[in-house]
Amino acid sequence: MKDTIILGIETSCDETSVAVVRNGKEILSNLISSQVDIHKKFGGVVPEVASRQHVEVILPIMEEALAQAGVGLHDVDAIAVTYGPGLVGALLIGLSAAKAISYAADIPLIGVHHIAGHIYANRFVQDFDFPLIALVVSGGHTELVWMKEHGAYEVIGGTRDDAVGEAYDKVARSLGLSYPGGPEIDRLASEGKDILSFPRVYLEPESFDFSFSGLKSAVLNRLNQASQKGEELSKADVAASFQAAVVEVLVDKTIRSARERGAKQVLLAGGVAANRALRAELNRACAKEGIPLIIPPASLCTDNAAMIAAAGQILYEKGMFAPLDLNAYPNLKLE
Ligand code: KG4
Ligand code: ZN
Repeated sequence: MKDTIILGIETSCDETSVAVVRNGKEILSNLISSQVDIHKKFGGVVPEVASRQHVEVILPIMEEALAQAGVGLHDVDAIAVTYGPGLVGALLIGLSAAKAISYAADIPLIGVHHIAGHIYANRFVQDFDFPLIALVVSGGHTELVWMKEHGAYEVIGGTRDDAVGEAYDKVARSLGLSYPGGPEIDRLASEGKDILSFPRVYLEPESFDFSFSGLKSAVLNRLNQASQKGEELSKADVAASFQAAVVEVLVDKTIRSARERGAKQVLLAGGVAANRALRAELNRACAKEGIPLIIPPASLCTDNAAMIAAAGQILYEKGMFAPLDLNAYPNLKLE
């Protein structure tokens, strides 16, 4: 069978990325221009600044991605672009670039859901075995996604308040750590101990939903209490205790959903999937349960265009192309 070459484009938040992927499984190039250093001084992503930065780098990055892959536009079978969810101004930059090239070079366009992309980052590691459960943990999402086949997503649980990454970033900020806070807490937690007994929020026993705002408030209250009393609280212990509470609930609900539904595989996806404690604990729990686990390398957990191209490959195979008036949807649903 002839190879399929997909050009992936991702600009939903603060990473501009363009990738070339063969057959949805092999990365020929995956260029990522991160804006983290620009947003760091503001303590978070500034949407307007993100859009301007995407405009500046999208075309040079695209040329470089094609050159590194050793392909020309005439080799590209389809352009897969993230059209939601995300920051609308940021999404529109990638989408406009994708549509312009699609039109000018007569290459079919494919619209990809950002979270589908995160899930498909796992396909670079190993092929999927259905049915499977994917735990998606990122800056904007915390979801358990049930998949019976390629491209079919059923969200069986989600967060009722903060996303995990959001909780990490807020707790990190209150500890005086820099943005993005997740990697900082990950590092600090390895030097501390889980001794502060933060709450594990399970909600109703049968629910696969999550809630992290109570935990976040508990951490902030504990920090305030300590500063009022002039008590010396180890930041490393706060980080370790917060992280332990998060990881325990995430792992527990994932394993229970896999067991109850008879999953053949567990997938971990999203920026927080780079977290070392979460990777280790989920690995341990899946091994104990006897369920195969796939985790992408840390570099493919955070936003990148290779994962968008991989998810786009499935839509390509199904002939699900997008019209040239495809719009950006900041709150696009996965199902
Ligand atoms: O998937 P992603 O790159 O962007 C979104 O789609 O949201 O995820 C970014 C989130 C941020 O909240 C960041 O703090 C978190 O992922 N993150 C981590 C780690 N690396 C990134 N959280 C915990 N531990 C990490 N090592
Ligand atoms: Zn993401």
